[in-house]
Amino acid sequence: MNTRNFALTLSALFVAGALTTNAFAADNLADFHAEQLSCDACHMESGELSNDNLSFENGKCQECHGTLEEVAAETDRGNYNAHDSHFPGDVSCTACHAGHEQSLNYCDSCHSFEFDMPYQGKWQRNEPSIAKLQQQADERKAALAAAPAASVDVLVVGSGGAGFSAAVSAFDNGAKVMLIEKEPVIGGNAKLAAGGMNAAGTKQQQAKGIDDSIELMTKDTMKGGRNLNDPALVKVLVEDSAGSVDWMTKMGADLSDVGRMGGASVNRTHRPTGGAGVGAHVVQVLYDNAVERNIDMRLNTRGVEVLKDSDGSVKGMLVKGKYSGYYWVEADAVILATGGFGKNNDRVAKLDPKLKGFRATNHPGATGDGLDVAAEAGAAMQDLQYIQAHPTLSTKGGVMVTEAVRGNGAILVNREGKRFVNEITTRDKAAAAILKQTGGTAFLIFDDSVRKSLSKIEKYIKLGVVPSQSTPQQLGEKMGIDGANLTGTIAHYNELVASGKDTDFERQQLPRALNEGNYYAIEVNPGVHHTMGGVKIDNQTEILDSNGKVIDGLYGAGEVTGGVHGANRLGGNAISDIVTFGRLAGEVAAKYAAKQ
Ligand code: FAD
Ligand code: SIN
Repeated sequence: MNTRNFALTLSALFVAGALTTNAFAADNLADFHAEQLSCDACHMESGELSNDNLSFENGKCQECHGTLEEVAAETDRGNYNAHDSHFPGDVSCTACHAGHEQSLNYCDSCHSFEFDMPYQGKWQRNEPSIAKLQQQADERKAALAAAPAASVDVLVVGSGGAGFSAAVSAFDNGAKVMLIEKEPVIGGNAKLAAGGMNAAGTKQQQAKGIDDSIELMTKDTMKGGRNLNDPALVKVLVEDSAGSVDWMTKMGADLSDVGRMGGASVNRTHRPTGGAGVGAHVVQVLYDNAVERNIDMRLNTRGVEVLKDSDGSVKGMLVKGKYSGYYWVEADAVILATGGFGKNNDRVAKLDPKLKGFRATNHPGATGDGLDVAAEAGAAMQDLQYIQAHPTLSTKGGVMVTEAVRGNGAILVNREGKRFVNEITTRDKAAAAILKQTGGTAFLIFDDSVRKSLSKIEKYIKLGVVPSQSTPQQLGEKMGIDGANLTGTIAHYNELVASGKDTDFERQQLPRALNEGNYYAIEVNPGVHHTMGGVKIDNQTEILDSNGKVIDGLYGAGEVTGGVHGANRLGGNAISDIVTFGRLAGEVAAKYAAKQ
């Protein structure tokens, strides 16, 4: 049997249950393969690792086991298929399967479900802080004394939506671009985005007869942000939003489904047809465009220090590769697109102590070290104290249940079976209301018509976090909700829908009655979701210092910046933010670099 057939047979046995997780007791690839393969089956002749993406080594995995899609086709385990995840891009085998250390499921860094996965165990983050890295003075000095390992016009730090938008846009504006990402996978928080991307005055809205305007989106955004947003940044966000939808669409995105998210006066949240999650799609399209442009993308590579010339302008960045160690990249412009810090509860709790110990919706790399890098480079910060909780994380498994479920008609009830809030109010208000209910949790309740309206719901059902029953009474009994009250609440809500007016909680949008097929419930409570504050930028994405002066050559876009969303971001406004400010940063940085 050749190696590939041997590997496929093993996979098949595993799927069929003939081999259990115990058969995979070897916790790393080297031990697992020790009897069949020699080192050169995975490694280059030189014995060195190929690069921080481990391109050669991952290519070897694929030679035997097939592409991720091929492996996925063999490993569906009912509830989940770890190889068919919500991750965009080319996910490397080594993201989870380690060569010589313990293999761990990257999924486990965020989730824990009630089913077994091989290589289970908490994903370890051994990421020293930026301050700690500064103690590695000798290694850093040696790297800086050497010639730059690469020279580009624009270096983009972070592979979320802002980073990819910036990279593609900088390239299209004539720059030589490199993009670095500290995680083993691309996409940051952006890949997790579910509900959609807000924009006003789009062709997609017009096709559906939705009457929206720059003024209305501005008003909603400012109101949602408690009027603490920087109006100059909101102007860019809103006025360029339809252009950003067009830009994405031209590059291959499908944003034709238009729904409603909290705090919006009209339907302006754009997502793929059928209601699939927006983030993985947007990142995939951006990634494909970056690949088409042959942009140099380096994973497992952390930006640790912005380097400046004696006149204070940027000359590059010191980076640290997971395997290659420190080196520096010469660049005329550096764009920080490093995202927020929602997953770093120490940092969150220092700024907002009432969020201490809260779970988070964020990806594991949302630790905020981009803020430390920026601060070290002299950047001013704003609004760091404003941290948003998303109202609806499933208590089981920690899955963020998109606001679009409410936008498409779900209601929120408490354990007593009563509604208690306008379900599509801004999320700060919805989250606060849930925390006041019995046990600090609530239940999202919907029927088959809501389920059919949003394909994202199928994912939650597959993960086993959405119990269902055929009547509200039975559902109540199953979930420990007062069944009689729940029955009455749904009947009354349906009357409100028929009358077109929510006289109880003034929900402005009542898309459908809940009276079709089965009833579903997801128990939820709030989790840390978005960090509104960050580096201070002007309306050209230039990062400012504490005197309000531009730091020449340093740009910021996306969740790492402050000011766009004020004290509270509206659902759907972040994807708009990252695409709009990302592409602007790319354009401005490329033009700046061309003049150097
Ligand atoms: P990210 O996408 O987080 O990317 C930043 C990247 O930089 C990360 O990959 C990170 O690892 C990397 N990085 C950090 N530091 C360094 C460093 N020093 N060196 C190298 N790389 C570094 N918003 C919406 O508008 N609509 C939605 O439907 C929506 N749904 C969401 C669902 C979830 C579960 C979450 C968590 C957020 C959601 N949001 C949504 C918010 C939105 O996804 C984020 O605010 C946005 O994607 C942030 O994009 P970004 O590019 O700024 O940062
Ligand atoms: C969600 O889909 O509920 C999250 C949307 C957002 O954060 O904008």
